[in-house]
Amino acid sequence: MSKKIFSGVQPTGNLHLGNYLGAIKNFVDLNNDNDNECIFCVVDLHAITTKQNPKELKNNIRETVATFVASGIDPKKSIIFNQSRVSAHSEGAWILSCVARMGWLNRMTQFKEKAGKDKEKASIGLYSYPVLMAADILLYDATHVPVGDDQKQHLELCRDIAQKFNNDFEVDNFLQVPEPLIQKDFSRIMSLKDGSKKMSKSELSDFSRINLTDDRDQIMNKIKKAKTDPLPMPQDIKELDERLEAKNLLGIYSSLTNSTLKDSVEIFAGKNFSEFKEILADQLINKIEPISQEIKKLLGDKKYLDKILLDGVEKANLIASKKIERIKEIVGFL
Ligand code: AMP
Ligand code: TRP
Repeated sequence: MSKKIFSGVQPTGNLHLGNYLGAIKNFVDLNNDNDNECIFCVVDLHAITTKQNPKELKNNIRETVATFVASGIDPKKSIIFNQSRVSAHSEGAWILSCVARMGWLNRMTQFKEKAGKDKEKASIGLYSYPVLMAADILLYDATHVPVGDDQKQHLELCRDIAQKFNNDFEVDNFLQVPEPLIQKDFSRIMSLKDGSKKMSKSELSDFSRINLTDDRDQIMNKIKKAKTDPLPMPQDIKELDERLEAKNLLGIYSSLTNSTLKDSVEIFAGKNFSEFKEILADQLINKIEPISQEIKKLLGDKKYLDKILLDGVEKANLIASKKIERIKEIVGFL
């Protein structure tokens, strides 16, 4: 069955191995399947829910496009565009924010994490962010949404909003209720410094993550310094629940080599971490170095990157403007 795919990535800099293994790698596979229609959005409206430097934001938007293309997404096959240029996203977010309930949004754990202790100081945008995400998805009748594990709750909210809209306005199946596509294993890559924390763009220490723009030496160095424990490599998969750093590194290895965690544990059982780390660094360099070099090359050709966005905006607008018109009609606007 052909799938309509929609996903988004925030242009907030430092795209990393977690973004790649949790999401972008999956985008590439979906793009390569000719049965699918894929739309990948650079969600700049989402980015400004936290403070951004305007100059850096522009660069980060281009860098996100470059990362998509360098990772293997073909802009001739998939639509790549930036959210702020398709006004239906903002309009849709407003209308859907009148459908979504406060109680639903109050449950969102990402808001709680990002707002931290001082919720009063968080932007309203940060709070209503999942409603904008729902608008993104629903405007394109997306059937499947590939994301990392941390976005699961937002997708459930999107499904609830779609269902409530369809019920409230008695328009059966008008908004397509989307399915999440979350990798079964390794859907959450953890920090190299702390196996209990997600690998993240905003973590202060650059040693906590492998950036997709890192070169060979940086990758080698970061893996060498990655936190482990004093024991030899685990003998049994059951040990991993207690040994989070080992689990994360073995998970990264498994994801890169398309093997199961169980097989990876068996290969390295009882060995020293240093031996494993060398092999892991090699695998990472094989995968990330070509992407990193291609990103840098593409960033030298801003015109090409801007043209990709321009073409994408045009195509996305055709789809989204039709849907938002129907939504306005259903709601009762004249
Ligand atoms: P963001 O950078 O927050 O826009 O995230 C872009 C995509 O990467 C989303 O689908 C996230 O779920 C995914 N992602 C971000 N961090 C991680 C991580 N540490 N592990 C796995 N997936 C991630
Ligand atoms: N909220 C997502 C994230 O931070 C990004 C995003 C915005 C998204 N709109 C989307 C993902 C629509 C999937 C579909 O990772």
